[in-house]
Amino acid sequence: MPKLIFHGHATCTLEAANGSRILVDPWFEGSPVADIGLDEVPDPDFIFCTHGHEDHFADAIPLARRSGATLVSTFEIVSFAQEQGIENAHPMHIGGGYDFPFGRVKMTPALHGGAVAGDESGRFTTVPGGFLFDLGGVRVYHAGDTALLTDMQLLRGAVDVALLPIGDNFTMGPEDAVRAVEFIEPQVVVPIHYNTFDLIRQDAEAFRADVGDRARVEVLEPGDSLEL
Ligand code: NI
Ligand code: MN
Repeated sequence: MPKLIFHGHATCTLEAANGSRILVDPWFEGSPVADIGLDEVPDPDFIFCTHGHEDHFADAIPLARRSGATLVSTFEIVSFAQEQGIENAHPMHIGGGYDFPFGRVKMTPALHGGAVAGDESGRFTTVPGGFLFDLGGVRVYHAGDTALLTDMQLLRGAVDVALLPIGDNFTMGPEDAVRAVEFIEPQVVVPIHYNTFDLIRQDAEAFRADVGDRARVEVLEPGDSLEL
């Protein structure tokens, strides 16, 4: 059975039906909320990064180097990683899907910033994205950092579990996240990208109440897991 392990902020591990470990937006070193330290992260098979900001990408290159995991992100971020010596890397881009050994992943649009942490030249600036994972029947949407997008209506019927930012300030806040739930109509919503620091402090229980009977809201603390 596929499983989601939440590590805090936007970082999570997905365990696919075939046993693949998929790490999304790894940020352990320096994260105020991560459940484990970078040294304790089990070696993943794949590392997916929605965008290049430090709180989503900081540990991707060190973990890819240590584990040999395949790093998956936009063409520009993958090019940057390859320049840093990462050999196992898979470039994708917005709107494109690919059949990985564990299932299909499609890269979805996000409206946010595109700088790549560590790229001092600015040559690898990219558009940010999200990912729609099909983990052997369970479809998980990690929205990345984004504003509310009317494009999210296109995901209706395609998502079982939606990981949506609710932190406000840098991404959509709870009110827009409720509208995203209306657009997407997932069965389960996991709020992410909040309570990491003061600027994105939110009340997840109030968000749950506002979602009401539109979806089941699973409020996960860092270290919590959810059977999918
Ligand atoms: Ni960001
Ligand atoms: Mn972020």
